[in-house]
Amino acid sequence: MKLELNSPLDMHLHLRDGDMMKLVAPLSADSFAGAVIMPNLVPPVSSVEEVKSYKIRILEACGDRVFKPYMTAFFKNYTEEELTQLKDYIFGIKLYPAGATTNSDGGVKAMQEAEKTISIMQEMGIPLLVHGESHGFVMDREAEFLAVYRDLASRFPKLRICMEHITTASAVKLLDEFENLCATVTLQHLIITLDDVAGGMLRPHLFCKPIAKRPEDREALLQAALSGHSRLMFGSDSAPHPIHAKESCGCAAGVFTAPLALPRLTTLFEEHGCLDKLQGFVSDNACKLYGITPPVKKVTLIRESMEIPTAYEAHGQKVVPMDAGCVLPWRLA
Ligand code: NCD
Ligand code: ZN
Repeated sequence: MKLELNSPLDMHLHLRDGDMMKLVAPLSADSFAGAVIMPNLVPPVSSVEEVKSYKIRILEACGDRVFKPYMTAFFKNYTEEELTQLKDYIFGIKLYPAGATTNSDGGVKAMQEAEKTISIMQEMGIPLLVHGESHGFVMDREAEFLAVYRDLASRFPKLRICMEHITTASAVKLLDEFENLCATVTLQHLIITLDDVAGGMLRPHLFCKPIAKRPEDREALLQAALSGHSRLMFGSDSAPHPIHAKESCGCAAGVFTAPLALPRLTTLFEEHGCLDKLQGFVSDNACKLYGITPPVKKVTLIRESMEIPTAYEAHGQKVVPMDAGCVLPWRLA
């Protein structure tokens, strides 16, 4: 049995830089026709020059694979002139609340300060991608941030706002309140809850921001994905950290899923009898929402077992994927 996907897209991806990028970029390019590339390098990607040179490094790391990096810039207070220059080189701008996650110290401290730039983005048609977490109690951070989304969505009705990596039933609900909101959801948040991270032995390779939530949250996310919600897209948030940064007394946030994302998603959609909804989730919804035409690339999955490697290693880097050592019923052709 075979499944063919047309130009699958990963709408939220961390590729890092240097040797780590050389290890992980080809793994994404083996599965996907393109991906929205997060800008949280050190220092963050924010100028035209930085965007252009990062894109070149990504393409070099992908070799001759067909793969389109949709670049983003790190949100800061850009002038109209800066945005005019950036516009042609970016897919969107990624806003992080200061300190919310990995390499986000230069993020936004108070949303009011960001409004001028956001209103210019609306005029220019530049999508705003948001890491939506407050600085409150870890389980409540996304729910507390929903008021900010509501405010942005109603005050900037022409702005395309993406709630990145949603993890709660209430975020799914909010999606239906505003036409200009869309969302990405990761693989892990469709599968795990906080119990899988910390309910038994602590599993550092499942630790990410936002943290996995309650069973009813996972269920709401899963039902939205399986039902083909037209404003929900796959964004892996695959976020590799070196093994020593994960298996450590201070574990970095981020789950590495890029190489198993499509086989695992196929397994999940098949288990629920919804394989017909996968194409929309991994590509068509994003193409329609953003009006993008990714490179033509057919990715074939075969119903044969795939053993997920215990680690991916090259260029002096070593990363442990989610579900390392487990066997999936589907693999890439
Ligand atoms: C991401 C990373 O490591 O860059 N980590 C994560 O837990 N998801 C950043 C992010 O998207 O929050
Ligand atoms: Zn991310």
